[in-house]
Amino acid sequence: MGNHAPIGVFDSGIGGLTVAREIMRQIPEERLVYFGDTARVPYGSKSQNTIIHFVRQIVRFLETKEVKAIVVACNTASAYALETIEKEIDVPVIGVVKPGAKTAAKASKNGRIGVIATDATINSGLYTKFIQSINPNLQVFGKACPLFVPLVEEGLTHDFVTEEIAKRYLKELKEKEIDTLILGCTHYPLLRSLIGGVMGDAVQLVNPAYETALGLRRLLTEKRLLSEDAACAEGKYEFFVSDGAEKFRVFANSILPYEIQTTQIVDIEKY
Ligand code: DGL
Repeated sequence: MGNHAPIGVFDSGIGGLTVAREIMRQIPEERLVYFGDTARVPYGSKSQNTIIHFVRQIVRFLETKEVKAIVVACNTASAYALETIEKEIDVPVIGVVKPGAKTAAKASKNGRIGVIATDATINSGLYTKFIQSINPNLQVFGKACPLFVPLVEEGLTHDFVTEEIAKRYLKELKEKEIDTLILGCTHYPLLRSLIGGVMGDAVQLVNPAYETALGLRRLLTEKRLLSEDAACAEGKYEFFVSDGAEKFRVFANSILPYEIQTTQIVDIEKY
């Protein structure tokens, strides 16, 4: 394995594509192997033990692809399994929670930060922990928004139904007078304009994917693993899912700056 090896990126499904998209933009010379656990999504309502079990299987699959680094492109998996797998494997691993927390802590002027995410991520309290480890005076208000994931999966990103639900979910955060809101679930950046419309211009939205891609570049540089291959080689990006390959391919093509030809199914239970 060396600098030409791919980076493994995984999520419970399609949401992690928002992170893959950011990596493609910021480190275009890198090859990616993406895995979306579409058969077992959502992770956001599952227990820590189950999430760790799923993540171990995905990591074993990515290891067969000889990845040089792994990006946990899922907030829920980052919150519950990152610390465990970091100790179990040799390749460097980066999640999305710490980068998101860091960006928000820097961005907030009034010290009042909101986090929207799955139930599991909010219950983990990890965003609050990371933000307050940077500055203990920052106040963090979490709100689980479980319906956002299926609404995005159904393509209702600009629908009045989604807007109505967003108004309900975000009401209490508006009342807290936050000035910064972390989109703490990888699906939520796809609702960015709708959430921004509900929160108003005074609230800045933080997409952890941006800082994650920057963090990944730093990590690869530090480990001397950055690819120097500027050529856009054939098969540079590979996509695997545990179910619904065609639905995934169509969705991916609607959000990536690149046309996916094939998505392969993996029997993840075998790993
Ligand atoms: N990708 C997950 C996350 O970022 C959301 C979807 C799920 O619940 O699996 O937390």
